Amino acid sequence: MNQPEDNDKRNEIAFSRRNWLKAAGGLVAMATSLRAEDVAGADAALELPLQLSINENAFGPSRQAVAAMTDSLKRIFRYPHAQSQQLIAMIAEKENVPGDHILMSVGSGEILLAYGRHFGAQKGEIIAAVPGYTQMIDVMQVLGSKVVKVPLNDKWEHDLDAMAAKVTAETSCVYICNPNNPTGTLCDAEKLKSFAIEVSKKAPVFIDEAYLECSDDFAANTMVGLVKQGHDVMVSRTFSKIYGLAGLRVGYAVASPQRIAQVRAQMSGNPNLMGAVAALASLKDKEYLDDTRAKIKAGRDAIHAVLRDLGKKHTASQANFVFFQTGMPIEKFQEAMRNEQVIVARPFPPMLDWCRLTIGQPAEIAHVHRALRKILG
Ligand SMILES: Cc1ncc(COP(=O)(O)O)c(C=O)c1O
Repeated sequence: MNQPEDNDKRNEIAFSRRNWLKAAGGLVAMATSLRAEDVAGADAALELPLQLSINENAFGPSRQAVAAMTDSLKRIFRYPHAQSQQLIAMIAEKENVPGDHILMSVGSGEILLAYGRHFGAQKGEIIAAVPGYTQMIDVMQVLGSKVVKVPLNDKWEHDLDAMAAKVTAETSCVYICNPNNPTGTLCDAEKLKSFAIEVSKKAPVFIDEAYLECSDDFAANTMVGLVKQGHDVMVSRTFSKIYGLAGLRVGYAVASPQRIAQVRAQMSGNPNLMGAVAALASLKDKEYLDDTRAKIKAGRDAIHAVLRDLGKKHTASQANFVFFQTGMPIEKFQEAMRNEQVIVARPFPPMLDWCRLTIGQPAEIAHVHRALRKILG
């Protein structure tokens, strides 16, 4: 269970990796010869089938992150203490909170699991939207907690009023994924803020911002400010999505030192040297961030345009994936796409004729367009 979404599926699928992923995978072996330009942002030659089911960043990491890792290879015999401290300091500065409000983790999935283990042990109730991301919920259920599932509203967004109405003395915590996975929808920022302030007086609120930096307006939508104001809110972030470092497993949470101590007690790992130096370099590379966000948005807009042309409903995704109604059972659509050499995501009950598809590079999107027109046209 200690895996990001669909990792089990990942193992089942025999697919050839993109060029840049191959290069990144060979990083250690090629320590002395690898140059940043061999990996970062390399335009992928189309390698089929396209792996568009697990929301990786098709545009690859920052060149500066690759250069920093290459440079650090000669220091891998050292523990990453100094680099981890630098990373915490830099994240604290970015989030505008003291360093003791930052908890580093091995991917943000580890935070979700540790939080789930801490609150799941109370055997109470977790309130969550459906369909939504289930990593925390699954672990809480295993520990004997009950999931109170609240359907999305008619715009496929969190129904915050309905969720607030479900809070009782039994509630252990409330999970909000913003943007939501699999719909990619954002909550209205002001509404989410008042929801979190009110609800967190009764039960802790967890806000998963894994995809928020892919959205058009990160600053207006992040809820980190609530942590600083002293509300019982934890916010998680990851370097796996917009920063293109999924393989390195670096994530973090922002919360009060008290909540951090509880969650840390359930954790066993720390980011490694490569993860720390790559994350540090990525944070400094503002150009990379803006450029990648623009590429993701262009891909999202292009697929949405084709879907509209085909008369297919889609959500207002702000993430690095789209979610749309296929008009057929998802298993049938998955198979049809597989025949066109495109791997799409798993079913998301109860939206069983909808499909989640990760944004790829332009050549991949062009291939997806042809497949969509053939199957849905
Ligand atoms: C909403 C959401 N949160 C958290 C994660 C965990 O990702 P990671 O452990 O790579 O940070 C994922 C992974 O796909 C996700 O979709």
